[in-house]
Amino acid sequence: VDLWLIVPAAGIGQRMKAECPKQYLKINNRFILDITLSRLLDSAPFKGCMVPLNAQDHWWPDSESARDARVQTCTGGSERADSVLSALVALEGLATEDDWVLVHDAARPCVHREDLARLISMLSEHPVGGLLAAPVADTLKLVEAGPLPVVSETVDRSQLWRALTPQMFRFGALKKALSDCLEKAQTVTDESSAMEFSGNMPVLVEGRPDNLKITVPSDLALAEFILSRQ
Ligand code: C5P
Repeated sequence: VDLWLIVPAAGIGQRMKAECPKQYLKINNRFILDITLSRLLDSAPFKGCMVPLNAQDHWWPDSESARDARVQTCTGGSERADSVLSALVALEGLATEDDWVLVHDAARPCVHREDLARLISMLSEHPVGGLLAAPVADTLKLVEAGPLPVVSETVDRSQLWRALTPQMFRFGALKKALSDCLEKAQTVTDESSAMEFSGNMPVLVEGRPDNLKITVPSDLALAEFILSRQ
């Protein structure tokens, strides 16, 4: 059974309000995407790596990863699920049904190698797979929209976790789950939700809470700080 890596990088990073997609912003003069990819590829024995890119992407040729023989690219789609599915299709014929696929956000450069190793070792014999996750720290409110949003309820957080990446599933099952969701127009924002929609119960592996997804401008300085301390 082989391990494959997919790093979806076809998003446009609207919430970042930057002049380029967030995976191409720089930390210590390196693209975030390059930091993410080199960390993962140097930390586990992946058989191959597929990076779905936006059809309009013109930054990739300037990346370190474009010159890395371990990395291949394909064209992504309009939603994250489309991008991951296009990468799975590009790996068809190379990967077998039972191989593991790890999917990791391009915008999570702080992923720690120990978390990656623990995810792989804890799930390697599991039939379904699972994901890194962290318990929720804040009190959570259910909100009713209106001119002034109001709290309708406080949600019990004791059973709530934040889904992180990597998320690790079997090649065949993940491809089927994502295809089914896209066919039924079921919105999914991560691979685990597609697997859940297909009736599976993914395993949660507790990961470091500092595996943040760079989303808003203030996350950039935070990620730089986290990386400097690792
Ligand atoms: O937008 P969000 O932060 O959820 O994106 C998570 C990851 O999915 C990012 O790495 C982004 O580039 C990727 N993505 C993609 N294709 C899309 C949308 C997002 O590959 N259509």
